Amino acid sequence: MPATIIVGTQWGDEGKGRVVDFFAAQADVVARFNGGDNAGHTVVAEGHTLALHLIPSGILYPQALCLIGGGTVVNPLRLLEELAMLDAAGIPAGSDRLKIAAAAHIILPTHRALDGASEAQRGSQAIGTTKRGIGPTYADKARRIGLRAAQMRDPEQFAGAVRDLVATHNLWLKELYDLPPQDAGAIVDQLRAAAEKLAPYLVDGTAVIGQALANGAHLLCEGAQGALLDLDHGTYPFVTSSPPIAGGALTGLGFGPKEVTRVVGVTKAYTTRVGAGAFPTELLEATGERLRDVGHEYGVTTGRPRRCGWLDAVILRYTAQINGLTEVALTKLDVLSGLPELKIAVAYDLHGERREHFPVEWGNDTLAACKPVYETLPGWDADLTGIRARDALPAAARAYVDRIETLMGVPVTFIGVGPEREAMIIGR
Ligand code: GDP
Ligand code: IMO
Ligand code: MG
Repeated sequence: MPATIIVGTQWGDEGKGRVVDFFAAQADVVARFNGGDNAGHTVVAEGHTLALHLIPSGILYPQALCLIGGGTVVNPLRLLEELAMLDAAGIPAGSDRLKIAAAAHIILPTHRALDGASEAQRGSQAIGTTKRGIGPTYADKARRIGLRAAQMRDPEQFAGAVRDLVATHNLWLKELYDLPPQDAGAIVDQLRAAAEKLAPYLVDGTAVIGQALANGAHLLCEGAQGALLDLDHGTYPFVTSSPPIAGGALTGLGFGPKEVTRVVGVTKAYTTRVGAGAFPTELLEATGERLRDVGHEYGVTTGRPRRCGWLDAVILRYTAQINGLTEVALTKLDVLSGLPELKIAVAYDLHGERREHFPVEWGNDTLAACKPVYETLPGWDADLTGIRARDALPAAARAYVDRIETLMGVPVTFIGVGPEREAMIIGR
């Protein structure tokens, strides 16, 4: 059985963690392919509510080998905290269960300082990053001066490389941002100690993936963030610095498209966004607040309130295209219960012209000028959390799901009706 890719189709936080947890029951390898600890993936199962940032959401299943892939960026200090969290919860995550690809890039405390400094300098134009050092680390990768996880194999040599890069970063902090240097000695000591602990987890990531696929194993690729945060195809510059789309799984893990049989787009039944940038269907009034309250829309990583709005089918058609979705996992349908009516954006009005295609390539100002053209559907009152069959949904909820399928041109094969592992309608 070959590869399944799970991706977010909006601006992140669609419920990828819980969908990956569902698929992981049948997986041999679960691999993160992009991003770092900017992600916050929630899994509610077996009496745990886990907030995972870098460790794949398959970690609850003992048969699944979890890989932090070569396309990711790893903060060793934060990863050790996450391992300690799992240990405290009694969830095994030793080096027999979890692997780190040697090609992954390393986030240093100075990358985080540079992230914060750059955001402060942008002022009103700030991206609203998670300040986890993601952008500066991918920038160093592209500059070809970054550190790779492979270097942790030799902690002493790694410590030397950390010292050199911290010196460069301290120069930038001073010259570009007029900020004091970070304590290089303390950073080097922390990273040397972390390397000693993490060295046993290192593997050749593409060798693990290649062997798994050659053996007919089922590879599950876990996307972080969402398609609209993609560096190339998202709402630039209000994006992250990695590819969260399906193509990112191929480049981040190192395998070819012929292995991919399913691309599952995780889609929230409404829209949310954390961070800055245009958001055509955003609701700044009571309905938006209601979605935030009922849906508990607060960031898993930063605790920030998420901006909330109606579902946007212009976005979803676009992200279905750029990911090549074969199916949709629709989450949080239960959150919409009790709303008298629901709106879905089916097109935009841009200066009096109707636009069907998400006009993202023209930039943020163009998107900000887009007014959603809404279709209104009836709401429903019933609590959906106990429903396990699509036929048993209230007629209005069924019609809402059917409409999403038609607008996206992709079948909805899973429907989330609550955060718990069991709270899901499976199949069509
Ligand atoms: P991710 O980043 O895509 O993994 O999503 P997050 O974990 O950041 O945010 C999704 C939130 O919605 C989490 O708190 C989940 O527990 C919760 N969630 C996921 N699916 C459902 C659902 O179907 N219904 C409800 N009510 N909550 C859900
Ligand atoms: P998961 O995997 C939602 C957003 C930030 C900011 C932009 C850039 O949980 O869906 P970065 O720190 O990556 O440089 O920030 O991207 N962002 C996310 N938003 N969910 C995420 O991850 C996100 N990861 C980054 O809010 O707007
Ligand atoms: Mg999240």
